[in-house]
Amino acid sequence: MANRWLVLAIGLAMCGAAGAQRDMALEAGLAKTPPMGWNSWNHFAGRVTEQDVKDAADALVASGMRDAGYVYVNIDDTWEGERDPQGVLHTNKKFSNMKALGKYIHARGLKFGIYSSPGPQTCARYAASYGYEQKDADLYASWGVDYLKYDLCSYRMLMLAAQADHPDDPDIGNKMMKAAYLKMREALDKTGRPIVFSLCQYGEDDVWKWGADVGGNLWRTTGDIQDNYDRMAKIGFGQAGLAKYAGPGHWNDPDMLEVGNGRMTADEYRTHMSLWALLAAPLLAGNDLSKMTPETKSILMNKAVIAIDQDRLGVQGDRVSQDGDLEIWSKPLSGGGKAVGLFNRGTATASLSLTLSDLGVVARRDARQRPVAPASTDGVVTGASYVGGSEVGFRVLSTPWSKTASVSASGRAPARLHVTNVWTGSPVVDVNGVVTEPVPAHGVVLLRVEP
Ligand code: GLA
Repeated sequence: MANRWLVLAIGLAMCGAAGAQRDMALEAGLAKTPPMGWNSWNHFAGRVTEQDVKDAADALVASGMRDAGYVYVNIDDTWEGERDPQGVLHTNKKFSNMKALGKYIHARGLKFGIYSSPGPQTCARYAASYGYEQKDADLYASWGVDYLKYDLCSYRMLMLAAQADHPDDPDIGNKMMKAAYLKMREALDKTGRPIVFSLCQYGEDDVWKWGADVGGNLWRTTGDIQDNYDRMAKIGFGQAGLAKYAGPGHWNDPDMLEVGNGRMTADEYRTHMSLWALLAAPLLAGNDLSKMTPETKSILMNKAVIAIDQDRLGVQGDRVSQDGDLEIWSKPLSGGGKAVGLFNRGTATASLSLTLSDLGVVARRDARQRPVAPASTDGVVTGASYVGGSEVGFRVLSTPWSKTASVSASGRAPARLHVTNVWTGSPVVDVNGVVTEPVPAHGVVLLRVEP
């Protein structure tokens, strides 16, 4: 008991240093963009073995995922064995040699992630770090670990016990939790090895407001995801309003990806991936990488979608409009553009319209103004395009649809925004500044709108 209070007092005293820790993490280049990689839990859960982890590392390389940015290979819960008399934690029989496994991962140009809890036990009831924080941090560093997911689990029991002992201090659990996370951040820093610190406490006590101050590079904002549309959508669309808490070095984490695990349709997985990209969420694949269909690969490895997630501006997107099942989300991008998701949460195809001027993206007149073939049906013009667009003016294309091209008073065409359908790579044409797209059930049309 006395020990626990000492831990708490030290932890709170260290709070002032937290901003400096965050800066150190950024200087070390930790999580400048949302971490990308693979985690064992969503597919393998408690069955994960050393061979599964090696297979995942090999598949990251062979599939091209590593080169697309997926570099962390994270072992989740159930690797832990017993502590020896010196307090050093050993692996269980599923993992023979973590140092060798770390080398195997690093030899492939990948990074190594591990899992523990600030409580005495992990969520799957394996040995965890309570009372052994520095010993465990040193052990991880000796194995070459680059990433730690630290999952609250049984530490909650200690918080509840303290709350029961001190009904006069309603914040005691929260203070203990912050101190516990800060303690491990300190322990990791003392190893001298840059280690990404992933807080996992399911979004309790508005973790987004203090996760960075206890040295978190990312923090889970929700309970566990599942491989079904309802759960994924509840979590993903539930992120509205959290954008201001994320940024380079410190990210909101709506949990790992389920793409490729088999219980959602391709449209639903594209919704999952698009929403996570708009949210600047960590992209941790959670499927069996050694058995991926071409469709799964195409969803996980769409470079233009990944570029939205990893955009160097590092601003999380947010919901900009909602009308029943139809939602529009947008994310500012470097270069002045925006990524926009037109989402249909309903069970039948629906048409969504986006008024481009609502986005606040300012069109530039430059050499990139190029003719775009309009979508024209039955003689109804649905678009107009220009060439040139510089100071020397422009030429309205002499095509059947050119007669409706708007010409400004000065005789120059208005500069146009460049709109691309991110999943297909095709240009999208607006009608008088409005883009209208059919969006499949539970699906998305993801757009990139550039000046
Ligand atoms: C919790 C976490 C999951 C996973 C399991 C492991 O439920 O939220 O992501 O790490 O524990 O036991």
